[in-house]
Amino acid sequence: MLTENRAAVLITKVIAHTAALLPLLWLVYAINSQALGAEPTKDIQHFTGLIALRLLITVALIPILAHFLRFNTLFQTRKLLGLWCFVWALLHLCSYLLLEIGWNNLSLFFSEVFSHLYLVIGAVCWLSLFIMAISSFGCIRSRLGMWWKRIHYLLYPTLLMIIFHYVLSMKTMTPEPILYAILTMAAIAYRYKNLIVKHK
Ligand code: HEM
Repeated sequence: MLTENRAAVLITKVIAHTAALLPLLWLVYAINSQALGAEPTKDIQHFTGLIALRLLITVALIPILAHFLRFNTLFQTRKLLGLWCFVWALLHLCSYLLLEIGWNNLSLFFSEVFSHLYLVIGAVCWLSLFIMAISSFGCIRSRLGMWWKRIHYLLYPTLLMIIFHYVLSMKTMTPEPILYAILTMAAIAYRYKNLIVKHK
């Protein structure tokens, strides 16, 4: 069994940072070498959105993974993966705003967002990720006290809404969002099972 020493924490964090950074290096490489498809703007939007979603699902699954792998050090990667998720969500928003709409056309951006349900949902999710990201910094976190925990319960409804945003954005349904929904439900069930056991 792995011990929770500092080396294990460091190695786990380096692996988590690398896993979140590698897709970005791949994306930069793909853009530079023109390895994207016929619609590179759409490919970038899809890629950035998917990585953000996968990172958030990983954050939600960490308690289950830590339990089954008997590796509590994984909890130390939750914050950094959550922040990486926000970075990817920011890239996703920028890819839409800069590559599709145009950075100087904010009125078109807002009119597009408010005329498509999946974009309204995406914007709510983005704001929720933003609130969770800024509230995880030391000074803000200590000021929030118990509110910090409550704010971070937004993780689960946000995940479900992102999957809904994903499904609504699709032209043809694939099994991928169904798999993400199952994983999210498993994370929620595990979380609430533990809460009930704690309060008994
Ligand atoms: C204001 C915020 C957001 C905007 C404007 C936005 C916009 C978009 C757009 C334009 C698409 C592609 C639709 C198409 O194929 O035509 C998309 C898809 C997607 N978005 Fe967002 N989004 C936002 C927030 C988010 C957030 C916060 C996440 C995740 C953390 C996310 C994850 C996804 C995913 C997973 C897809 C589907 C990717 C695929 O089809 O492979 N989006 N979004």
